[in-house]
Amino acid sequence: MEIAFKAVSFNPLNYFMSRIVDRLIFYAILGIFVISCQSNTTKTKVDTAGTQLLAKEIVNTQPTQKAAKEHPGKAVYAKYCLVCHQANGSGVPGMYPPLSNGSWVGKDPKELVGILTKGLSGKVEVNNEVYKSAMPAQAQLTNEEIANVLSYVRSDFGNNFGSVDVEVVKKIRSAK
Ligand code: HEC
Repeated sequence: MEIAFKAVSFNPLNYFMSRIVDRLIFYAILGIFVISCQSNTTKTKVDTAGTQLLAKEIVNTQPTQKAAKEHPGKAVYAKYCLVCHQANGSGVPGMYPPLSNGSWVGKDPKELVGILTKGLSGKVEVNNEVYKSAMPAQAQLTNEEIANVLSYVRSDFGNNFGSVDVEVVKKIRSAK
């Protein structure tokens, strides 16, 4: 009985030592935690700065690339021609003739301006296919829009014809 008592007897020195060690371990862990948090924040800050730089680069380069790529006649085409002649200028067999290779878009600008301002009907043969449909006049287009859209169709869809100047359109239009 007495021996057992001794074994669990209270030793003040041991008690304080163990408390100090506990404290030290606690502060050490706390310190590591705080340091790791701070280094994470700096890392995030650097990452954010990097992402912002990258985003700026993308924003800075994209519009210039787009502006350089997009033909001014493309928007006119999308609004007034695409519905029939299709996005790739293929047209629709038996209904709308193509504007791609072998079509009339390489013809004299005079004729092309006439098609746009007066429309076209009757027999139209493109790539050995006959169309007996009718294209409504696009007379609402300005001279500039006509010049742009004709220049666009003459340079896209596999075509490689010269652009049509707005002054030429103006002349042709006022002559008729
Ligand atoms: C409502 C449908 C429609 C729209 C919109 C339309 N076209 Fe057409 N286009 C036709 C049809 C149909 C023909 C053939 C007419 C025929 O069969 O007599 C044609 C013929 C042509 C031709 C001559 C034939 C060829 O394939 O080369 C050209 C060039 C042309 N269109 C350009 C344009 C352009 C440019 C626009 C837009 C500004 C446009 N068209 C808008 C239906 C359309």
